[in-house]
Amino acid sequence: MSIYKYPQTTTSGKLLDNLEVNDAIPTDIDEIVSIENSSFDIEAFSRSQFKYLIAHASGKFLVVRYNGHMVAYISLLKRKDTRHLRIYSIAISPQMRGMGIGQLLIDKAIEYAVANNLNTISLEVRTDNIPALTLYEKNGFEKSKLLYRYYGDNIDAYYMRKLIIELATP
Ligand SMILES: CC(C)(COP(=O)(O)OP(=O)(O)OC[C@H]1O[C@@H](n2cnc3c(N)ncnc32)[C@H](O)[C@@H]1OP(=O)(O)O)[C@@H](O)C(=O)NCCC(=O)NCCS
Repeated sequence: MSIYKYPQTTTSGKLLDNLEVNDAIPTDIDEIVSIENSSFDIEAFSRSQFKYLIAHASGKFLVVRYNGHMVAYISLLKRKDTRHLRIYSIAISPQMRGMGIGQLLIDKAIEYAVANNLNTISLEVRTDNIPALTLYEKNGFEKSKLLYRYYGDNIDAYYMRKLIIELATP
C-alpha cells in the first residue's frame, strides 16, 4: 500500500489559474446533472441523489468552474465514527478532460482526508475505465478487491484504497 507524504507538491495544474473550486450548493444541481449525464450511462446518479449528497451526506461535495461554467464535481463521503473517506463519484465535462482537473480534485480529496485526520481513501471503479484507473493508480490507489458484476451492466469493479499517513512538517 502506498503512503501519502504531507505536504504534497501540486500536480500538473495546466488550468489551475482559471479554475474556481467551491462547495456545492443546491442551485448547482442542474449543472451537476448535466455533467453526470454526459459522463455516465446506467450508473448516472439522479437529481434526488445529488440533492441528498449536497444537503445531507456527511463529507464534501465540490464543484469546479472554469470561466464561470461548471466543468467538474467530486462527491466525498465520510463514514461517521471511522477514519475513512470514500470517493463516491467524480466527473469532468467531456470537453474539459485531459487538462488536469481530475488530478486537481484527487488532490482536494487527499487534502480533505489529511485535514480531517482520516487514514484511508477508497473508491470503486469499472475495470474497463482506463482513464480513471490510470488517474487513481498514478495517485497511489491500489486495487484491493475485484467486485464481480458490481455495475448494472454486469461489469466488474475494482475496489481501490489509498493509505494516508500525515508526516509532521519540519
Ligand atoms: C477519469 C476522469 C475523472 C479523469 O479526469 P481528467 O480531468 O480528464 O484527468 P486529468 O487531466 O487530471 O489527468 C490526470 C491523469 O489521469 C490519467 N488520465 C486521464 N485521462 C486519461 C486517459 N484518457 N487515458 C489514460 N490516462 C488518463 C493520466 O495519468 C493523467 O496524468 P497525465 O496527464 O500526467 O498523463 C475523467 O476522464 C472523467 O470524468 N471520466 C468520466 C467519469 C468517470 O469515469 N469518473 C470516474 C468514475 S470511477
